[in-house]
Amino acid sequence: MCGIVGFVGRKQAAPILLAGLEHLEYRGYDSAGVAVIDNGSLDVYKTKGRLQILSDMIGGGKILPGTIGIGHTRWATHGKPSDDNSHPHKSSSGRFAIVHNGIIENYGPLKAELEKKGVAFASETDTEVVAQLLDAYYDGDTFSTLVKVIETIEGSFALGILNRDNPHEIYAVRRSSPLIVGLSEDGNFIASDIPAVLPFTRTIYHLNDNEIVRLTEDTVEIFDTARRPIVREKEKVDWDVSAAEKGGYPHFMIKEIMEQPEALSKTIAPRITHDGSITLDGVQLTKEQLAALTHIHIVACGSAYHVGVVGKYVIEELTRIPVTADLASEFRYQNPIVDAHTLVIIISQSGETADTLAALREAKQRGATVLSIVNVVGSSIANESDNVLYTWAGPEISVATTKAYSTQLAMIYLIALYIAGQTGKISKEAFSSLLTKISALPEQVASILKLAPQLEQLAQRYAYLEHAYFLGRNLDYAVAMEASLKLKEISYIHSEAYAAGELKHGTISLIEEGTFVVALACCERLIPKTLSNIKEVKARGAEVLLVTVENCQLADEQADEVDHMIRIPQTNELLMPSLEVIPCQLLGYYIAKARDCDIDKPRNLAKSVTVE
Ligand code: G6P
Repeated sequence: MCGIVGFVGRKQAAPILLAGLEHLEYRGYDSAGVAVIDNGSLDVYKTKGRLQILSDMIGGGKILPGTIGIGHTRWATHGKPSDDNSHPHKSSSGRFAIVHNGIIENYGPLKAELEKKGVAFASETDTEVVAQLLDAYYDGDTFSTLVKVIETIEGSFALGILNRDNPHEIYAVRRSSPLIVGLSEDGNFIASDIPAVLPFTRTIYHLNDNEIVRLTEDTVEIFDTARRPIVREKEKVDWDVSAAEKGGYPHFMIKEIMEQPEALSKTIAPRITHDGSITLDGVQLTKEQLAALTHIHIVACGSAYHVGVVGKYVIEELTRIPVTADLASEFRYQNPIVDAHTLVIIISQSGETADTLAALREAKQRGATVLSIVNVVGSSIANESDNVLYTWAGPEISVATTKAYSTQLAMIYLIALYIAGQTGKISKEAFSSLLTKISALPEQVASILKLAPQLEQLAQRYAYLEHAYFLGRNLDYAVAMEASLKLKEISYIHSEAYAAGELKHGTISLIEEGTFVVALACCERLIPKTLSNIKEVKARGAEVLLVTVENCQLADEQADEVDHMIRIPQTNELLMPSLEVIPCQLLGYYIAKARDCDIDKPRNLAKSVTVE
């Protein structure tokens, strides 16, 4: 999973490519490179390491005079991060240079065949096969050669291609990896994502699978593989480039944490009508279809899966329909029991996660009704779903998700309540009361964000611990999973989430003097139970931080068991995850900051995971 850009126009390409890549580093950042054509010469500059190293190497791009080029930022899959494995890759003849995001699954046999014919490979990557195939199939026409290549390769790809013999055009094509086209007075662009072109233009096209685009400085032509032209409506990006920049915050993560009230309002408000009902734009499910549902699967990866775990509790409680939360990477290979009476809810911020996309296809093929919750408009998952609900979180840059998670949760509440309402499982009064509470969430989240200085102070105390355990029951446990992941992925502290009642079945043996335990107890009816579990860890020397609701009454001896306490406002028990996750995000952030970690780009991670 990587980021690609391309530019052809009337300006120097290299500085534009570097500026674009800067906005794509969230897709991977273990190496970077550019290729430009100037005076008939096609030259590649690439290096292991961050984009800054490449930028320093080519003087911010200024030393490269060409006005056409392609660029890449890499997250290694095939072959370690190294100069040789960095993109762009050139074909042996030196005619082609390409950048690639995705995986060529049949690269092994293709490489072996080419090697038999005497082709010498310069890298360990799957990508280089594409460059070498372009050479092998070249018939003087880049378009027809490219069609032959994409008919040969299997897997996922977004490709940007330069041909030294045609120094005024870029070709690009995609299959199951994202790719957009940007159009401007100064020239035209390709990119893996919109922020890369936003400094230069707001006018874009989304490309679909197997569409080939040819860019020159004045033209953009889209074709199908039979070279039939495709007419595409231009789209205007209505969010500002500053939305993709830090806006004065030290990290994207804290900016995005602070943006949550606004993101929640944008996601919730348009779905609530004046007469107090829920309208789910993009959902065509009838009352009859909903009433006939026998099972719901929520399928996702990472934090989006944790939203699914909350969803299981909430949807079952409100609709009494059995719900399973599935990891997409497991669901796709488990012969899932789904049929026409199953609703599969797919959750994905990027809309490009490979396992989630594959799970969506699997569910559709088995006849399930699919409803997707997606943040990136025009992404593969959005395109392939019959029912799409967008979270309006805006671009999320930090690898560790916060505002996307929160808006996904809000969508789950709205879906659960909508199904309950449509199927007559909830009284009018209870429906209205819950809906009012959902619309109050943005304000409540804003009030919890004011705890930031307190959490920053607490973080100093916990920053140098080696282990952490997050405990909770039911919905508190679902949030504990996300809280634990948040801490570990950005601070590199080993952390685990446990159902509070389960810890004693083995893992409690790891609790010793000073072990950090965060107990989440916001589910009022379960607070006494969780407090008993706090006693158990405290008796073994744990240092306990309790996150609970404002009106939780603790007896003196209970308060003594707790070293620190964070109190948050209350809402309906089902909605508490939206509130209790906020101090956990802040805690994770400030601990990572105190440890001086690379918060927005944690080691080994990438934001958009387009490989299995
Ligand atoms: C990566 C991100 C997570 C995200 C997960 C699923 O691991 O770092 O924040 O939850 O992928 O991504 P998606 O785009 O499908 O929500």
